[in-house]
Amino acid sequence: MPENTLTITDNRTGKAYTVPVENGTIRAMDLRQIKTDTDDFGLMTYDPAFMNTASCRSAITYIDGDKGILRYRGYPIEVLAERCSFLEVAYLLLFGELPTEAQLNNWKFEITHHTMLHETTKKFMEGFRYDAHPMTMFVSTVAALSGIYPEARQVLDPAKRLLQIKRLIGKAPTIAAMSYRHSEGLPYVYPDNDFTYPENFMNMLWKKVEPKYVAHPAIARALDILFILHADHEQNCGTNAMRAVGSAHTDPYMCTAAAAAALAGPLHGGANEEVLRMLDEIGSKEKVWEYMKKVKDGHGKLMGFGHRIYKNYDPRAKIIKWSAEQVFQVTGRNARLDIALELERIALEDEYFVKRRLYPNVDFYSGIMYQAMGFRPEMFTVLFAIPRTAGWLAQWKELITDPEQKIARPRQIYTGHDVRQFIPIEKRSPVTV
Ligand SMILES: CC(C)(COP(=O)(O)OP(=O)(O)OC[C@H]1O[C@@H](n2cnc3c(N)ncnc32)[C@H](O)[C@@H]1OP(=O)(O)O)[C@@H](O)C(=O)NCCC(=O)NCCS
Repeated sequence: MPENTLTITDNRTGKAYTVPVENGTIRAMDLRQIKTDTDDFGLMTYDPAFMNTASCRSAITYIDGDKGILRYRGYPIEVLAERCSFLEVAYLLLFGELPTEAQLNNWKFEITHHTMLHETTKKFMEGFRYDAHPMTMFVSTVAALSGIYPEARQVLDPAKRLLQIKRLIGKAPTIAAMSYRHSEGLPYVYPDNDFTYPENFMNMLWKKVEPKYVAHPAIARALDILFILHADHEQNCGTNAMRAVGSAHTDPYMCTAAAAAALAGPLHGGANEEVLRMLDEIGSKEKVWEYMKKVKDGHGKLMGFGHRIYKNYDPRAKIIKWSAEQVFQVTGRNARLDIALELERIALEDEYFVKRRLYPNVDFYSGIMYQAMGFRPEMFTVLFAIPRTAGWLAQWKELITDPEQKIARPRQIYTGHDVRQFIPIEKRSPVTV
């Protein structure tokens, strides 16, 4: 029997099958040959929420949740956060290698020159009510760009693909800032090509009547680091949406809107808002013990703690904690930080949390930091969507050029009725809906 194979005995028929094992994985399609008779469809796997199913091969992001490792294209996240700009990291995610100086300058130039939006986009944005959620505005406006760039449908054309990638990375902060200005009732600010990517975003968010906005370098760098940390996280819910929609060869604007819609869900991009609510509910450092006792007694969760994949300190949380300290030196200390530090101190020693391997995740400190920078909680997910756009596009590009990929179309286990006799309307009984 060759090594790296799996032998399966079907106890229904007594037959044995040998299937190859590659990368610790068997191909689900190899199970289809396992049948009880020729009419049988063949064996399937049942995996709601893809708990144990790889849907693609990817060379972009590597995570080892037990060891607390996150790498983009092989580079540890800590090194990238310290040494790179977000646009440099976006280039790495998309093209697989860090850019040379000339490539980086050209890339920055290209992205900067795609930050403007078509004027009709402004009118589109104005159609939203003043209290529409910024994520609703972001998702809809990204999708609406599809109407402005119809050539984006030619997803098999590499040059056209690259152009839409540049447009989306360039325009994401402009749309995000517009959604913020709209909800604040402020006039929109046009991009300014003199600025770096994060500075330009700050300019579009916060410029008032001054002739030239001046971005604080420490805040701009902290924002850039946050962008790097959020740029990609392999096959999460939003990325899976990007790939599922992309597999139908839908244009990248609509795919990105679908991915952002997934991100908008509270189980995905919204946990940092919850952390702020929790810290407010606790109120002071002295009340932390009492709150943690409630959590341990099964009343609620410690928001910003625990992760499906990380069973160790989330490497992004470490960097954010450091970065938050830099921000507080400019903005003044957020009183919630003391509560957060006390929570973390106790949780890392407490048997309940240690036993369950619950460590701070990326959302634990990011909300406090965003708030210190002046963002309302509703903007937090939009801040996440800007850099994740680069990750989504890298994954989309990988998908489109992967010869093994086809339209994503899962199977189901049908649990409904067998064929039934039609009932005329006068003979039907009412059902409770
Ligand atoms: C992220 C999360 C959904 C992961 O869930 P999961 O991998 O399915 O983990 P489980 O729900 O199986 O949790 C395992 C155990 O730890 C406990 N637990 C998990 N997260 C907890 C938390 N934040 N506070 C207290 N207890 C927690 C569970 O109650 C469970 O305890 P039990 O074994 O006694 O039943 C979960 O940790 C959570 O809800 N965290 C808070 C929300 C958050 O910060 N989300 C952002 C993620 S980036």
